[in-house]
Amino acid sequence: MSRLIILISGRGSNMRALVEAGLPVAAVISNRADAGGLVWAREHGIATEVIDHRLHVDRPSFDQALAETIDRYRPDVVALAGFMRILSAPFVERYRGRLVNIHPSLLPAFTGLHTHERAIEAGVKCHGATVHLVTAELDHGPVLIQAIVPVRQDDDPERLAERVLRAEHIIYPRAVRWLLEGNLDMTGDHVRTRDAQPQYLWADGSAEGL
Ligand code: GAR
Repeated sequence: MSRLIILISGRGSNMRALVEAGLPVAAVISNRADAGGLVWAREHGIATEVIDHRLHVDRPSFDQALAETIDRYRPDVVALAGFMRILSAPFVERYRGRLVNIHPSLLPAFTGLHTHERAIEAGVKCHGATVHLVTAELDHGPVLIQAIVPVRQDDDPERLAERVLRAEHIIYPRAVRWLLEGNLDMTGDHVRTRDAQPQYLWADGSAEGL
């Protein structure tokens, strides 16, 4: 059975979606001891670890400690779920092709932070979320699946974020399962599902309960 490690920094709602989808989670690791998601993981009998970035002198030494902890679980896939640390190139290289992230925008638009606010400010009509393989460049890398969430005229960042998050909880387990089950063909930056499952979710309120 393939094994999944989830890295979190905060409340861990995406972590929860991965667990509740029945994926084989070996452990949840956080860079913050106070991450809310750790409490939920422990309550559900999942192994947890804390690697506090503040206890490491620099990024390489933090990344090394993190990698050593991850490797003890021998995972097939490592999923970043609201893990708010930039990872160094050697770390990313070590897990190439099996390190995955979810980002709250339709990449390559709106990399970085405050994506919902920036989408509203920019006046775009479609926003969403992206699951992608991690490369050394922040919020870049081959796209596995995207959820398209229309921006409504009366949206504020909180309302929009809430609808995007619900879409995240659908697409992340789907994409991680594809990776775990080897259901993806990768050619350069292009990733396709072997069985032609759609790699988008149209989350306009009429689909899948959103
Ligand atoms: C999610 O919206 C996720 O897409 C985002 O942080 C949130 C974490 O929420 N990630 C990023 O912005 C990464 N660049 P969660 O802890 O409830 O899953």
